[in-house]
Amino acid sequence: MPFAGIDIGSLTAEAVIVDQGEIIQYTICSTGSNSRKAADKVMKLALQRAGLVLADIEYLVATGYGRVNIEFADKRITEITCHGRGAYFWNPEVRTVIDIGGQDSKVIRLNDKGRVVDFAMNDKCAAGTGRFLEVMAHALEVELAGLSELSDKAINAVSISSMCTVFAESEVVSLIARGLPREDIARGLHQSIAERTAGLVKRVGLEERVMMTGGVACNSAVVRALNEKLNTLIIIPSEPQIAGALGAALLAEEEFTS
Ligand SMILES: Nc1ncnc2c1ncn2[C@@H]1O[C@H](COP(=O)(O)OP(=O)(O)OP(=O)(O)O)[C@@H](O)[C@H]1O
Ligand SMILES: [Mg+2]
Repeated sequence: MPFAGIDIGSLTAEAVIVDQGEIIQYTICSTGSNSRKAADKVMKLALQRAGLVLADIEYLVATGYGRVNIEFADKRITEITCHGRGAYFWNPEVRTVIDIGGQDSKVIRLNDKGRVVDFAMNDKCAAGTGRFLEVMAHALEVELAGLSELSDKAINAVSISSMCTVFAESEVVSLIARGLPREDIARGLHQSIAERTAGLVKRVGLEERVMMTGGVACNSAVVRALNEKLNTLIIIPSEPQIAGALGAALLAEEEFTS
């Protein structure tokens, strides 16, 4: 019997279909301006690829900020619980999950059963999130995917003093105007994300092993800066962006079969 999870985030939407605790299909799309449309599209694509129709899905759990708009969901569960469940599926030794998405960042502590015992969240401002990196990539005139490569070439990191995205962007523009190497600025920006995230980790306490989920886990410079800052080796799953939808699908199956 197939079960599904759907995660409507601020930037991307994911759908995952599971059967007997195994992933049978998943899709990732951009959310765009209409989260309802994004949910329809991402689910339709996953179903098509799996050779299924919506009626074949026994139970569907929705998560992410857009979860309230998904009419075909049987249940809605927070991203905290879903990311925790997804991470635990990939590696049951994980006790700390760092999810950095487009609009917020979270640190989730799990127990040995994969249940959430504590969490800390930054959803007040874009600093330390994917959106921050997107703004900075634009200021540095590089593609988002090229930001970590740029940072790899740094000789000395330039420290970025502004905490706010808007001020940090002006700071970056003036650093470029002063002739500082773009690579060194990029390294400084990644370090500032690592510092912000380490502050969140401190609030819940770091327990090994640590896994990173969400789209920013695809940025190797953030991962490296965080490894150094936290003095650990963060596990990066093969598809970190689907963690929330995967957790939602697994919780759908558990809910239905329990
Ligand atoms: N290939 C990539 N290289 C670098 N960064 C990437 C890549 N793919 C995604 N990202 C980062 O991931 C971010 C989006 O993450 P994600 O898809 O988890 O967000 P979301 O779930 O929509 O947001 P939220 O959970 O905050 O609502 C982008 O802002 C970008 O910084
Ligand atoms: Mg998300």
